[in-house]
Amino acid sequence: MAGPRVRIAIRDLSKTFAQGSREVAAVDRVSFDVCDKEFVAVVGPSGCGKSTILNMIGALVAPSGGQILVDGQPVAGRPAPQVGYVFQKDTVFPWRTVERNIALGLEYRGIPPAERERRVREAITLAGLQGFEDAFPATLSGGMRQRVALMRSLIVDPEILLMDEPFGALDTHTKLTLHAELLGLWEAKHQTVVFVTHDLSEAITLADRVVVLTRRPGKVKLIYEVRLRRPRDVITLRETGEYLREYGEIWHALGEEFAERTA
Ligand SMILES: Nc1ncnc2c1ncn2[C@@H]1O[C@H](COP(=O)(O)OP(=O)(O)O)[C@@H](O)[C@H]1O
Ligand SMILES: [Mg+2]
Repeated sequence: MAGPRVRIAIRDLSKTFAQGSREVAAVDRVSFDVCDKEFVAVVGPSGCGKSTILNMIGALVAPSGGQILVDGQPVAGRPAPQVGYVFQKDTVFPWRTVERNIALGLEYRGIPPAERERRVREAITLAGLQGFEDAFPATLSGGMRQRVALMRSLIVDPEILLMDEPFGALDTHTKLTLHAELLGLWEAKHQTVVFVTHDLSEAITLADRVVVLTRRPGKVKLIYEVRLRRPRDVITLRETGEYLREYGEIWHALGEEFAERTA
């Protein structure tokens, strides 16, 4: 019987950066798979190589060793067309309005104006940004800017979504709201997601599996299957015994990495 289709295969992936005359090992022989429609979170202490791994999947950084296959094709030099990216810092363009930020990917792909307009309107409704179409990013809250960034990635319908601490800069309330919104959007399309975060509760709330990394150089410490039923209510979930049990089990592994600090 065939198992689930592997979309991203990561094998013995390593990265060493040159920092002046020093070499910094950021990622050390990391291997894991991401299956079709799966939501995988990658957690680990700050500086353990999470962004580096994501950037290698997205072809923004070249590996020093190992291999990444996206849909069976080696990632080489440029991102696979089925991949979309959402970064931590909102990467919206300050000189473009909300509408024109969201439309960007469609413009790149040469989508005709009528269809572009229709899809942008749909995205604006999905993100609850009605009335802000002509606003510039500087006039929006952090949460709204991150919604714009998210919609700009989702509007081209990526099958694979790479997210690098996209809610890391937001306050707790806004973060929970965006978790609920992201899960709602994901339930509708079931993109294959790799979500990087240092926030364990965020990882458990969202993901099907959590890859726990050691501190730098990042190695896989544990791959944990989150058994919480879907759809998940991001607020009440945290009060359930199942959530607390999952949290406790992963925290044990992650806590060791936080505890053993090196200079
Ligand atoms: N472009 C780069 N040049 C040199 N060192 C880098 C570069 N990018 C990341 N690093 C180093 O690699 C390590 C891992 O960084 P990063 O992947 O950003 O960690 P994380 O996202 O887990 O916080 C850090 O020590 C960082 O200083
Ligand atoms: Mg990072």
